[in-house]
Amino acid sequence: MPTQELSGTTALVTGASRGFGRAIAIALSKHGARVVGVARDRGRLEELRAQLGGTFTPVAADAADPVVAGRLLDEHRPRTLVLNAGAAPLPRPIHRQTWQTFSRNWEVDVQQVFNWTREALLLPMEPGSVVVAFSSGAAVNGSPLSGGYAGAKATIRFIASYAAAESGRSALGIRFTSVLPQLTPETELGAAAVAAYAARQGVDIRAFLEGRGMALTPEQVGTAIVDIVTGSGNDRDAYLLTTAGLSPVQ
Ligand SMILES: NC(=O)c1ccc[n+]([C@@H]2O[C@H](COP(=O)([O-])OP(=O)(O)OC[C@H]3O[C@@H](n4cnc5c(N)ncnc54)[C@H](OP(=O)(O)O)[C@@H]3O)[C@@H](O)[C@H]2O)c1
Repeated sequence: MPTQELSGTTALVTGASRGFGRAIAIALSKHGARVVGVARDRGRLEELRAQLGGTFTPVAADAADPVVAGRLLDEHRPRTLVLNAGAAPLPRPIHRQTWQTFSRNWEVDVQQVFNWTREALLLPMEPGSVVVAFSSGAAVNGSPLSGGYAGAKATIRFIASYAAAESGRSALGIRFTSVLPQLTPETELGAAAVAAYAARQGVDIRAFLEGRGMALTPEQVGTAIVDIVTGSGNDRDAYLLTTAGLSPVQ
């Protein structure tokens, strides 16, 4: 697959205010892309703008809102779209969830990926565009303290592969892929999950993490996304992401 130059192109990243999304915005910006960062926390987005300068455009908005998806794709016409925003699940076992807490990641994560994917196909984005949707290792392994999180993330993987097939059928030339990162305590969402699983096992967080090896860092996630977008990785519709890097999901 030929490599793609990011200089002078626009990338839109949801969930850019912290965690993986912030690191992805920084990595894409370092590779020359103009980056539009979407999240609800305007203050954190402004901090990122102060760091990255005028090529970063902060947009304080709800990424799950279909109007936001349509408006921002029309306005910015990104060549790279990273659907990373995700809600933190309530870390409780199944019987301590309500339907509302159980379905939170469906309402935010899945709805977001559904809305933006639909708009990307209908617009359509330019041939050569890339859409990366954030699933999770939980989509394969389950996540018994996160309500509907694992099922929501599995659905995101399906949406990306269905969209890749539709892009192929209509010869749109848009690449759709999903990324399944391993659990890491290096972000707010991951730290809350790690604390819950450690408590469940009756060990402290350090002991829990010792058994898991090195933690995936947001910077490694940023690098991996640049590799996918520039085409220097393989061209698959889903990748596991660990500290060892990207590997195609079998
Ligand atoms: N960390 C892990 O271990 C791990 C593992 C596998 C997959 N993931 C996935 O990776 C993605 C990033 O997670 P993270 O660990 O970086 O989480 P995080 O640190 O909690 O960051 C989540 C980001 O999503 C944004 N967000 C949440 N709801 C939003 C909404 N409705 N509209 C716009 N932005 C919204 C947040 O910004 P605002 O609050 O400012 O809106 C924030 O920027 C998520 O999809 C997550 O499920 C994480």
